[in-house]
Amino acid sequence: MKIDSKRAIELLNESEKLNPGRWVKHSKCVGEAASRIAKKLNLDEDKARTLGLIHDIGKRYGLNEPHVVRGYDYIKELGIDEEYANICLTHSYLNNDINCTAGGVPRPNGYMYEFRKDFIMKHEYTIYEKIINLCDLMCTNEFMTLEERLIEIMQRKGVAENTVYHIKEAKKLKKSIDELLKCNVYSLFPEILERMK
Ligand SMILES: [Fe+2]
Repeated sequence: MKIDSKRAIELLNESEKLNPGRWVKHSKCVGEAASRIAKKLNLDEDKARTLGLIHDIGKRYGLNEPHVVRGYDYIKELGIDEEYANICLTHSYLNNDINCTAGGVPRPNGYMYEFRKDFIMKHEYTIYEKIINLCDLMCTNEFMTLEERLIEIMQRKGVAENTVYHIKEAKKLKKSIDELLKCNVYSLFPEILERMK
């Protein structure tokens, strides 16, 4: 079953009751950002928004690392198509590498580690997944540059052994999306410049 952004908002609002927090506004922000990029690329805007809205849905059960697998399982249990479930897993990892993530290398004894590692290594990222990867790194509950967001994450989580690797891959990702857009992605977000005034 496919879902649209209306259904995604319903799922998000339901999940907010279980675990209220900033993650809900963040998810809406990622959805809006993704839809702007999708529009400019002549992709399906509502699909991009939907994926942005549900990428962190696993946080309904708690904010920690397993949210990626919990979200994946939750979406699948609802009978929603795999491509929507996949976003819950893929959004945290760049470069097909479980170690390319914010806030430190995942622990090998962490929740469903082997499953996550294997999935991410073998998965061919769609353009929508790449857009969500970038948007997640451009949004708290407001739009920001990649650099601002990466600093915000470092302030919260500290600097880890994989931080430089993650920054490099995040910058590569932005460059690849800029090339597709044929402009700087920030030009789609005048709010960023406004805020900096
Ligand atoms: Fe997120």
